[in-house]
Amino acid sequence: MTNIKKYLEKAQEEKWAMGQFNFSDFTQMKAVCEAAVTAKSPVILGTSEGESRFFGLQEAVALRDVFKKKLGLPAFLNLDHGKSFEYLKEAIDAGYDMVHFDGSKLPLEENIKLTKEVVKYAKKKGVTVEGEVGRIGTDSSKLYSEKFEIKEEDLTKPDEAQRFVKETGVDLLAVSIGNFHGIEASGIDPNLRLDSLKQIAGKISGTALVLHGGSGTPEDDIREAIKLGIIKININTEIRLAFAGNLRRFLDNNKDEIVPYKFLLDAKNSVEKLAGRKIGLFGSAGRI
Ligand code: 13P
Repeated sequence: MTNIKKYLEKAQEEKWAMGQFNFSDFTQMKAVCEAAVTAKSPVILGTSEGESRFFGLQEAVALRDVFKKKLGLPAFLNLDHGKSFEYLKEAIDAGYDMVHFDGSKLPLEENIKLTKEVVKYAKKKGVTVEGEVGRIGTDSSKLYSEKFEIKEEDLTKPDEAQRFVKETGVDLLAVSIGNFHGIEASGIDPNLRLDSLKQIAGKISGTALVLHGGSGTPEDDIREAIKLGIIKININTEIRLAFAGNLRRFLDNNKDEIVPYKFLLDAKNSVEKLAGRKIGLFGSAGRI
């Protein structure tokens, strides 16, 4: 079966994006894989350090292999926002296809130095690496009631992006272009800074760009961002909201239900529907 690099190249050539859907539980993982199979789309399954510690790195790898084999699905695992080289090594050794080293809060020099170490180790094992420059705020466990202010200084600077990519040799670069993790309470986040994205893409043509904080991003912005070079989009908060919201509603309405395969069904279906919708938006349907 085609590996992740081939799909990322294909996405870049054909101008569509791979969805990365985060999970911390088997029901969510299964729902995402089933949505991808229905849409005939390759898919990236993401786990943060916290999500993967709960789920287990080896368990995630074993189940990825089950879905690949049973469903004939190009499903790939990414360790999302890894902050420690040691933990990324564990993920690589366990069999993850890709790792994201997030040194974005470090001074640029330090970020470059550590990312290089990750790239060196990962490349030996044929594992894809995503790096990050610029600050992407907040986290995926929140609905923000106040307007989230993006500071100009947190946006990825095109020159820094160019230097980072050249010196580290990363396969993909996550950028800060007005995106943030989590969603504003209205459900729709402020518009992306497509002007910034254009400038960054102009400096590093050839390097694949990643959009974090995909939840709540206006759909037109997503379409434009893909045209400008984004080939991977991460979604977490919307999955968590769909899953937790439907589970809570079901249990509230069915106080005596204790059978997991019954009380988890609405939550699973809602995640599957959501992933299917995003796959359609990202243009990855029918690309297997
Ligand atoms: P959201 O939670 O905003 O979807 O962001 C997810 C993400 O970027 C994971 O890395």
